[in-house]
Amino acid sequence: MHTPGSALRVALIGCGGISNAHAAAYRKLGPDVVRVTAVTDVLRPLAEQRAVQLGAEIATDYRSAIERADVDAVDICLPHHLHAEIAVAAARAGKHVLVEKPMACSLDQCRAMIDAAAGAGVTLMVAQVQRYMPSYRGVKRLCASGELGAIRAVRFDSMQNAPGFLPAEHWLFDGQLAGGGIVISVSVHRIDLVRYLVGDVKRVMALTHTGAAPYRRGAEDYAAAVLEFENGAIGEHFATYSGFRMPYSEMFMIFGDDGAVHALPPAGHSMGPALFATRSRDDSATRSAGWDGQFSGFLPVPPDGAGLPAGDDGFANEIAHFAECCRSGREPQSSGRDNLGTMKAILGIYRSAETGAWVDLAGL
Ligand SMILES: NC(=O)c1ccc[n+]([C@@H]2O[C@H](COP(=O)([O-])OP(=O)(O)OC[C@H]3O[C@@H](n4cnc5c(N)ncnc54)[C@H](O)[C@@H]3O)[C@@H](O)[C@H]2O)c1
Repeated sequence: MHTPGSALRVALIGCGGISNAHAAAYRKLGPDVVRVTAVTDVLRPLAEQRAVQLGAEIATDYRSAIERADVDAVDICLPHHLHAEIAVAAARAGKHVLVEKPMACSLDQCRAMIDAAAGAGVTLMVAQVQRYMPSYRGVKRLCASGELGAIRAVRFDSMQNAPGFLPAEHWLFDGQLAGGGIVISVSVHRIDLVRYLVGDVKRVMALTHTGAAPYRRGAEDYAAAVLEFENGAIGEHFATYSGFRMPYSEMFMIFGDDGAVHALPPAGHSMGPALFATRSRDDSATRSAGWDGQFSGFLPVPPDGAGLPAGDDGFANEIAHFAECCRSGREPQSSGRDNLGTMKAILGIYRSAETGAWVDLAGL
């Protein structure tokens, strides 16, 4: 079991795509903070490469990784249908759990993970990396400061053309392995971020479209959702996984009585800088008069890097936060318990798309 003051010893479960970012983060934070002692992947060459890169040993499978005495925590970087089983097994073995987004594929699975972690007294954190980026922390500070006034509305999107960069056989196109399509795999980032910035979602109404190959077994490639937040704000989300040569976008806009903040993608990027304007700021030097005033006078949202030791590297900040929570017993900012609200919104969107009715998240 992890002792306060020592480096957190981690087993990396899954050595595919996103583990590259996690591995870079482990190297950046260094062995005084986190040490990867074991790695595993069903594709042995990937595990071998990662073991060499991180100075770790190879475990034959996740069970043997979990059983190791030199492992305090697991980092689950696997297809979504495997998250819950491994997180529950690890927690029951007394290991802390960091699991990539989405937490799991169903609310029953999420609750089993939360219960297992609570029962064992270990940390359960979902790797919602956007919460650990100074740019979004700056937006959070602005929203929380009250300078925008009461927040009335939010718009946000998740747009990409996945068949343009993933092979057709990829598990992300398989609704059984991914738990759905674009909403659970990609919108999960924005839905969690919007909950962090604006507050919990109360109810949702949605339409989804399930496309032709490579999408299969229920993976949707378009979604349009309307959301009502607990604080009365209204929201709109649009997602596409297959728009023909779409500009990749993670646009968002937040509208308050006294100000607004927005981040729109410039050509060639998924995300522009977050900009804002509020009544209390004098923008007369930069804002044009009349009609042109609609397009000018916006200020960059100052980033907030407080408590984020790795600057703009959200993955290293996230893993540092996980290690700190394992040491201190503090609840992570993206704990399993908190993430249940994100997963309810996602699964509420799916329920609404099936039934055609509003879905009250309190009933899920
Ligand atoms: N935070 C982000 O921005 C971000 C980006 C991409 C992916 N992700 C998330 O990361 C997770 C993994 O996605 P990925 O893109 O790395 O997928 P991937 O397919 O590239 O990698 C998954 C790896 O798991 C291995 N694997 C499968 N079953 C296994 C098992 N039973 N035991 C051990 N290894 C097994 C595969 O061989 C593969 O190497 C997903 O939850 C995904 O949503 C997050």
